[in-house]
Parts: sequence; structure tokens; C-alpha cells
Amino acid sequence: MKDMETIRQAAEIIRRGGIVAFPTETVYGLGADVFNPLAAARIFEVKRRPYFDPLIVHVANYTDLKKLVREIPSDAKRLMERFWPGPLTVVLYKKEDVPDIVTSGLPTVAIRMPKHPMTLKLIELVGSPIVGPSANLFGYLSPTTAEHVQDQLGGQVDFILDGGPCEVGVESTILSFSEEKPRLLRPGGVPLEEIESIIGEVEMTPVNEGKPSAPGMLPRHYAPRTPIILDWSKKNLDSYRKKKIGLLAFQESKNFLKFRQVEVLSKKGDFREAAASLFSAIRRLDALNLDLILAETVPEVGLGRAIMDRLRRASSKGKTN
Ligand code: TXA
Ligand code: MG
Repeated sequence: MKDMETIRQAAEIIRRGGIVAFPTETVYGLGADVFNPLAAARIFEVKRRPYFDPLIVHVANYTDLKKLVREIPSDAKRLMERFWPGPLTVVLYKKEDVPDIVTSGLPTVAIRMPKHPMTLKLIELVGSPIVGPSANLFGYLSPTTAEHVQDQLGGQVDFILDGGPCEVGVESTILSFSEEKPRLLRPGGVPLEEIESIIGEVEMTPVNEGKPSAPGMLPRHYAPRTPIILDWSKKNLDSYRKKKIGLLAFQESKNFLKFRQVEVLSKKGDFREAAASLFSAIRRLDALNLDLILAETVPEVGLGRAIMDRLRRASSKGKTN
């Protein structure tokens, strides 16, 4: 692998207790040794993340997984076999050895195997799983390029491993196995339909419930500075006439009002392409000092569910958390 020396360097930093931003197929993560509570504490500090919001852990293989959990329910095992490495996170009961700071005191730990060759190699070289929340300030959009990380956290991390732009572009789907029936905690890169085709119907947590055990589920998250509006209609556009507005369009659409800027997520109307460009497009609009961003909605099927979930949270008027 051409970047081997760089990956070795990054692994060494993590082994010595440092923190390294790393690429995955979903978004960039902020990594530290899962068994080093001080390093985990620094991640909370750098992200300005409240300690009640647990970190997810990334593994490179099943030996790593066994260091973290006592038991693997059969449905979870089937999903891992099908989707790992990939954008699926499972929440399972943890082993004692997993530090409390990582799980915010919960008896469970969220785990996934990311699909990025550099990061799989990185974890292997570290020799233990790494924690990896998204590499952004708490409540802000997740980074999908190394430049996004550099812009927001550049001076505060020990190293940024550049693996190019993220292919999937929205975070992993989180499924909890802490109750009798599997429960969807966050829609994401693996569509719900594909999960249900393998293990049958799963429980859903209502979008606005805001359980403290999963603050990624709080209404306002993934939010840019510029207000995003979802419930606008072409008929009422006149009311925005005096404002500087940008349009976040799903497919190509006519520039019928004088939008300062139009970002098209996928000309073909393809969900994968739209998800992959979502956060970058919002960031570009957010950098323009607009008064408002109007966003088009997408159908809530397949990846459309994750896209709408992120748009809704980004547009929520609730307090940033
Ligand atoms: O795609 C992803 O999952 C990315 C990449 C870097 O892997 N990571 C990511 O991490 O999105 P983060 O921390 O931004 O989001 C993980 C979510 C948080 O909302 C956290 O509250 C939830 O997972 N979580 C972590 N551990 C949990 C647990 N034991 N029970 C319930 N929710 C948990
Ligand atoms: Mg995050």
C-alpha cells in the first residue's frame, strides 16, 4: 500500500496516546486507543462533546470485536457477516475492560468495522480497537474530506490521515441489540430495508425522542450556521424575495428565483450520489453568508431515510447540542 509509512506513523501516535483523524467510507472519525481513557477524554474535549454522549468503537477484525463484547446475538452476527466492513454500527453489551468514559457509563458499546483500507490497516497496526466519533465539533456537520477536518479541528489533533473523499457521505446506521428486539437508533449508510430483509422487522425510535443515550438523535444535530428550511413551497417563494438564499436541490431544478447559489446533490436523482455530496454541499452553502438555505426533500426510502434524517436535524430550530 502506497501510504504505508504514513499509516505506520499515525498508528504510532495512537499507540502513544495521541489522537488521529482517520477516513472511513461514511465520514471522517477522530481516533484514539479504546483502552486509553485519557486519550478518550481528550477526544471529548477537542470535539466539545458532552461526556454523556458515548463514543463508537472501530474494529478491524473479529479478534478485536471479542475484546469488547461478551456475547454476539445471532441476528447481529448475521448482519455483521453481510455488511461488515461497512456502514453498520451495532450496539452490544460490553466487557468490563471497555472504559466507562467510552460508553458514558452505559453497559453497552457501539461498534463497527469501517470499509476503508487505510483505516483497517491503521487499527491493525495499533493492535487494539479505536474509538471514533465523527471528526467535527459537537452539533456541527460531519466531515467528508480531510480538508473539512483540517478546517475545523486542524490545530487540535495530532495527525490527519487523508484517505480522500468519503464514498458513502452519511454516517453509519446504528442498530441496538440491548433489548429483546433490535432497535434502529439512527438511519444511515445501510438502508433499513436491507437490514429488515435479513432479520425481519426492527423497532424504531421516534425521531424527536432525544434519548440521552444517543444524542446523535437529538433534534438539532449536523447543523450548519445558516438556517435551513425544508417546508417551503414554490408558491410562497415571494416571501423570501429580499433575502440572500441558496437552494439545496436533490436533482437539477430550474433556477426560477434568483438564488445566490444552487447546489445539486445528484443530477440523476441517485440517492447514493446525493448522500455522498450532502455534507460538502451544505458546507459550501454555509460558507456564503446566506440568510437562508432552502432544501428540497427526498422520498424516505432506502438511503433517502438517512438523507432526510440529516436534513431535518440540520434544519431544526432547537438549541444546538
Ligand atoms: O459512520 C459513523 O458512524 C461515523 C464514522 C466515523 O464511523 N461515526 C459517527 O460517530 O458518526 P458519532 O459519535 O458522531 O455518532 C455515533 C452515535 C452518537 O450519536 C452516540 O450517541 C451513539 O452513536 N452511541 C454511541 N455509543 C452508544 C451506545 N452504547 N448506545 C447508544 N448509542 C450510542
Ligand atoms: Mg457525529
